[in-house]
Amino acid sequence: MLVDVTAEVIANTRLSSAYNVLALRAPGVAAAAEPGHFVMVKAAASHDPLLRRPFSVFEVLRDHSGASVGITLLNKRIGPSTGLLYAAQPGQFVACLGPLGHPFTIVDPPAEAWMIAGGVGLAPFAMLAERLRARGVRTTLFYGARSAAELFYLDFFRQLGINLVLTTEDGSMGEPGRIVEPLDRHLTARARHEPVMLYACGPERMLAATASLAIRCGRPCQVSVERVMGCGMGGCYSCVVPMRTAEGGFHHVRACLTGPVLAADQILWD
Ligand SMILES: Cc1cc2nc3c(=O)[nH]c(=O)nc-3n(C[C@H](O)[C@H](O)[C@H](O)COP(=O)(O)OP(=O)(O)OC[C@H]3O[C@@H](n4cnc5c(N)ncnc54)[C@H](O)[C@@H]3O)c2cc1C
Ligand code: FES
Repeated sequence: MLVDVTAEVIANTRLSSAYNVLALRAPGVAAAAEPGHFVMVKAAASHDPLLRRPFSVFEVLRDHSGASVGITLLNKRIGPSTGLLYAAQPGQFVACLGPLGHPFTIVDPPAEAWMIAGGVGLAPFAMLAERLRARGVRTTLFYGARSAAELFYLDFFRQLGINLVLTTEDGSMGEPGRIVEPLDRHLTARARHEPVMLYACGPERMLAATASLAIRCGRPCQVSVERVMGCGMGGCYSCVVPMRTAEGGFHHVRACLTGPVLAADQILWD
């Protein structure tokens, strides 16, 4: 069920000079959210910035009885709206519309789940990790960032029993380089008869490289694509993605409606 709410900021936890986690009181959104869903958020009461911006639902917050009370967003400050969300104070209000989009399809054992996150692409995986572990799915997080200071929530994932494979571009934690490099090795070493579902979110080049590895190794792969989204509801066509058709041609889908989670092998990456 879609909910449009003026959500109170419950807390704002700064993780670094660019990243924060914003907790919003939005019980209706929280109750309906599934891993991979997003919300459209308007950070300012004024007309600047005019349009809402898309954010993955990072966590669902619950009270002591287990009832959903709100959501968090993992926010990376890159422009006006994300800057306002970084600066938001508890007690302020933001407009929040959601949950929107097509979420991840969650596997069951004996399939394993490998989540591949680049930078702020970690955002949909806290919730997905909880759901996978609740089903008893063995889960690995391949997580790459620029430096150790930008690898967040590691203890959260460890406490869920998630295996971590980490890379940093400057070598300050985990393996130096990009996350697709250890992913390539793990995929190549994996016995063909052992089922693995890949879930990926991050920069487009990382998604394209992950898709290419998945296709080469014959593994299913769901990617959450990032597109500029003007409305989040199918009205503006700012978010189109070229996809293959069954007849061998291609057509455009709107990432806000058909996605943001799409089958990696159906996307035309060039
Ligand atoms: C489905 C979805 C989920 C997302 N989830 C998160 C999240 O959980 N946390 C988070 O921090 N960000 C997320 N984003 C990206 C976020 O929406 C943008 O960073 C935000 O819109 C930027 O707004 P701004 O006003 O701060 O900057 P703007 O001025 O709007 O943008 C700054 C620059 O970034 C570019 N840009 C804007 N949006 C995108 C985009 N989607 N992809 C690539 N470049 C873009 C602009 O062209 C411009 O050059 C998500 C995007 C999508 C589509
Ligand atoms: S964001 Fe407007 S159609 Fe997708």
